[in-house]
Amino acid sequence: MCGKAALVHCCAMNILTKRRIIVGVTGSIAAYKSAELVRRLRSNGTDVRVAMTAGATRFIAPLTFQALSANRVHQHLLDESSEAAMGHIELARWADAVIIAPASADFIARLSHGRADDLLAALCLATAAPVAVAPAMNHRMWAHAATQENVQRLQDRGVSIFGPAEGEQACGESGLGRMLEVTQLLALMPALLGDGPLRGRCVVVSAGPTYEDIDPVRFIGNRSSGKMGYALALAAAAAGARVTLVSGPCALPDPGCGIIRISVRSAEQMYGAVLHEMEACDIFISAAAVADYRPRSVSAHKIKKHSNALTLELERTDDILGQVSALKQRPFCVGFAAETDDLEENARAKLNAKSLDLVAANQVGVAGSGFDSDENALTLYWRDGTRQLPRASKQALATALVTIIAERLHEKYRTENS
Ligand code: CTP
Repeated sequence: MCGKAALVHCCAMNILTKRRIIVGVTGSIAAYKSAELVRRLRSNGTDVRVAMTAGATRFIAPLTFQALSANRVHQHLLDESSEAAMGHIELARWADAVIIAPASADFIARLSHGRADDLLAALCLATAAPVAVAPAMNHRMWAHAATQENVQRLQDRGVSIFGPAEGEQACGESGLGRMLEVTQLLALMPALLGDGPLRGRCVVVSAGPTYEDIDPVRFIGNRSSGKMGYALALAAAAAGARVTLVSGPCALPDPGCGIIRISVRSAEQMYGAVLHEMEACDIFISAAAVADYRPRSVSAHKIKKHSNALTLELERTDDILGQVSALKQRPFCVGFAAETDDLEENARAKLNAKSLDLVAANQVGVAGSGFDSDENALTLYWRDGTRQLPRASKQALATALVTIIAERLHEKYRTENS
């Protein structure tokens, strides 16, 4: 891992030290990634036990996990040596958390039906520790109504669902169903252990563009991909928060991980959805590229090209962040500023004009950063401070930004109560 990524994950890692975690491995090609998960947990001082289903052992040898975890691998429900070593009840009692990665469609089905027909399923029934599953399967299997019902049932029972991610699959197809990357799973572990810096907090994130309709087929939009907002939602969930993501139209899949996504189209809809969530909100992160103007009227019929020129009259949209910040019971407010010139001056002007707690500013017009890119660099400003977050992936930046938001929120509460 590079230095920057190591820095943003160190907070998660400290929380994992000396914790007792069971990694359950089930029959999926993604089982090879679990070896890295076990290695990374161990290198951060976690005591790891691995439980494998019979299917998992067809993909990867138990010896690999034995070597990486420095413990015997648990495979059999009826194990003669279990009194001397650990049987499913002993294991279930021992664990601080259980993560099943990868979780196959079959295992998710068995877990949702409370089956206890192998060691891993039985220990999930017997444990009082929090359980997470990281699904990995073909995208059609994931989308199937049966799988979705099973996942919903698990979620309703308090099981955390980590992922899945979208992308190329081992079967040669592409879609939603890949197991999350190991770094993402590690980042989510503190939330599973109930230890993240935003534990118990409620976070609302706005993301993506807004579309302002001109007529039934045309709209005014912008190039925001939503990636930064989605990464922030995931980072806040990983920090232990309950997260609501109010998303404008973008092509990103549902982020999972217990995040509630509300899809909107226009600035007006986003305003309504955000305001609706404010009652219980501790932190509002306004990452959306909200349109500043919309057509004064929307034509009910497609506008025909009758003349050489067309004039659209535009009116201002509501400033969502400004309105939230002006609420009597206001959350901690974080705004974004995309600037081509005078970054600090413009960012600080926004901080003051909207009475924000923090502004995340980035230089636009630089190749490889900003709207459509997977990377960015940010400079953070608050009333009496600033912090530079050097160029990194949006997910790494989001994790770093959420860590700083948690620090600033804590500081704000401390000074308000002193
Ligand atoms: N924002 C908002 N509602 C709007 C417009 C923007 O909530 N109608 C939020 C954005 O999500 C972002 C911040 O306000 O967090 C950006 O502030 P803004 O002053 O709108 O920035 P720009 O649009 O870049 O403004 P300007 O063109 O004046 O630089």
